[in-house]
Amino acid sequence: MTTERFDLNQVQQLEDKYIMTTYARQPVLFVRGENSTLYDSVGNAYLDFISGIGVNVLGYDHPRIRRVLSEQASLMHTSNLYYHPYQGLLAEQLTQASGLARAFFCNSGTETAEAALKLSRAWQRRQGRENKYEFVSLTGSFHGRSMGSLSVTAQQKYREPFEPLVPGCNFIKAGDHHEARTAINERTAAVIVETIQGEGGVRPQSPEYLQTLRDACDAVDALLIVDEVQCGLGRTGKTFAYQHSPIQADILTVAKPLGLGVPLGAIVVAEKAVDGFRPGDHGTTFGGGPLACRLSLEFFEELNEGQLLQHVNETGDYFKQKLLHLQESYSSIIKEVRALGLMIGVELTFPTKNFPTKMLERGFLMNSTNETTCRFLPPYIITKAEIDAMLTAWEEVLVEEAKAAEEN
Ligand SMILES: Cc1ncc(COP(=O)(O)O)c(C=O)c1O
Repeated sequence: MTTERFDLNQVQQLEDKYIMTTYARQPVLFVRGENSTLYDSVGNAYLDFISGIGVNVLGYDHPRIRRVLSEQASLMHTSNLYYHPYQGLLAEQLTQASGLARAFFCNSGTETAEAALKLSRAWQRRQGRENKYEFVSLTGSFHGRSMGSLSVTAQQKYREPFEPLVPGCNFIKAGDHHEARTAINERTAAVIVETIQGEGGVRPQSPEYLQTLRDACDAVDALLIVDEVQCGLGRTGKTFAYQHSPIQADILTVAKPLGLGVPLGAIVVAEKAVDGFRPGDHGTTFGGGPLACRLSLEFFEELNEGQLLQHVNETGDYFKQKLLHLQESYSSIIKEVRALGLMIGVELTFPTKNFPTKMLERGFLMNSTNETTCRFLPPYIITKAEIDAMLTAWEEVLVEEAKAAEEN
C-alpha cells in the first residue's frame, strides 16, 4: 500500500459516513514523519509541537523504533498468561527511576487511573477499612473518560452526559491548602492529582501544595495517586515531574510516551500498597506486551543516557525565555506563560480555538486547551531553530487573532 494513493477528500468522505463523530479533526492527512516533521498526502511538511498529544517524544522514524518494530515482529503479543523477556525489565526501570516498588501494565492513561482507583479501594478494604472508599480530586483535573477516571475528572463538559457517575468523588480547589486539609478525611481512600494539569491548561501544582496533599493523606491513611500521564517521563526535564518537589507518590501513573507510539500505560506502586491487588483482582489482555515493553526499554535507554533530559531542559528554557520576551511586547494579551521543560502553556486574554488551524495553514502543529491557552508539547528532540520558526508564525497568528478579538 503506497501512501501516495491516499486523498484527503476521499478519506474525509469515508470517515463522514462510517466514523462516530467524537472528534472535529483538522483538515490534513498525515502519511509519514521524520524527526520533528510530519508530511501530508500531498508532500507538505509540518513541524510538530504537539507530538500526538505528548506521545511521539523521540519524533518520527527514530532508528531505535525502526529496529524494534522489525525485530519484534515475530512476537508482538503473548497475553499475561505467560512470561516474555521485557515486562520485568521495564518494571525494573520504572521502579528504579521513581523509587517505588512494583508496576502493573495496561494500555492507556485512562486505564492507569482506573487501576489506581481500584487498587486504592481494594487496599483500604484489605486494611479492614470498608467505609474508606471516597476519592478526592482537584478542580481543573483530567484523568480519563471511563466511568471511574471520569468520576474524578472535574470538568463538567466531559461529565454531564454520563451522570450519575461513581459515588464518593469529591473536588477541592486546586492550590487551596485549607480545603485540602479539611476535605481529605477518614472516608478518603485516595487523593488523585496531576503534578501539572495538562487538559486543564498546563497548570502546575506548587511543591508546597503537593506537600500539603502528601501530609493530609498521611494523616488519614489515604493513598496519594500522582497522575503523570501527560507531564511524566522526561517532559519537564526530570524523569517525573513530581521530582521537582520533595514528595513521593503511593501510586504513580504514566502512559502517553511510555510505548513510543504503541499503547502502553503503567501504575508504579509503593511497597505498602502493592498487596491491594491479589491474583485475579485486576487484569488486561494486551497490557505490557513484548512489543510495547521493548519499545519502552529503548526509550529508557535514551532517557538514561542523560543527553535527552539535558536537551529538554535547554530547549525548554530557551522556549520559555522567548515566550517571556514576547509577553513583554504583548503584555496586554499574553496573560501568563506556564512552562516547565517542554510542557508549555501560554494563556491569552481571548479564546485560542482558531490557533491550531491557523498554525496548521502555516505548517505547524500545536493545540488549544481550556479555552484560552495555547499548548505546546513538542518532541524532546525539537531544536532551537525549530522553536524560532514556530514562534515567528505564532506571533503572526497572535497579532491577527488579537485584532479579530478586539473587533468582536
Ligand atoms: C493527566 C492525564 N491523565 C489521563 C489521561 C487519559 O489518557 P488516555 O487518553 O491515554 O486514556 C490524560 C489524557 O490526556 C491525561 O492528560
